Amino acid sequence: MLDIFKYGDEVLREATSEVDKFDDSLSILLDAMFETLEEADGVGLAGPQVGVSKRIFVVDTRRPGERIAFVNPQILETSDDSVPYEEGCLSIPGVYHDVMRPSRVVVRARDKEGKAFTLEAEGLLARVIQHEYDHLEGRLFTDRLEKGEREKLLARYEKQASKARRKGRK
Ligand code: NI
Repeated sequence: MLDIFKYGDEVLREATSEVDKFDDSLSILLDAMFETLEEADGVGLAGPQVGVSKRIFVVDTRRPGERIAFVNPQILETSDDSVPYEEGCLSIPGVYHDVMRPSRVVVRARDKEGKAFTLEAEGLLARVIQHEYDHLEGRLFTDRLEKGEREKLLARYEKQASKARRKGRK
């Protein structure tokens, strides 16, 4: 189980670099990310969230065929529409908000062995891919909200986080 970095941690905003070695350590890291994701009951987890500034993320929607590791992903295409979907983030636990994004994406990436694949996704999978890809760009879903909405959401998050910290000290 890896530590998940939270809102305010610098690593979530840092630039990420491409993976150039497809070795055992990459494979072990991706497996640990899948385990951490499952343990945290999330659907996606990106390198920066576990303190690794690499262009990697894992997705697991719990649907058949949708447990996928993405290494050096590129979004090749997005649909022209923009649809709302309620998002959350393991780095900003406890708060959720509708975010507008295209409903369909085409993404190219490598798997843990370095083999390239192209995937067309819609629905939840497309949503998670775009959210995780944003993490590689140092972007959080809150950045995509209007200022007023963002401030309200983050105030609620800070309140919950400080309450949890107080509880933890007792
Ligand atoms: Ni996230």
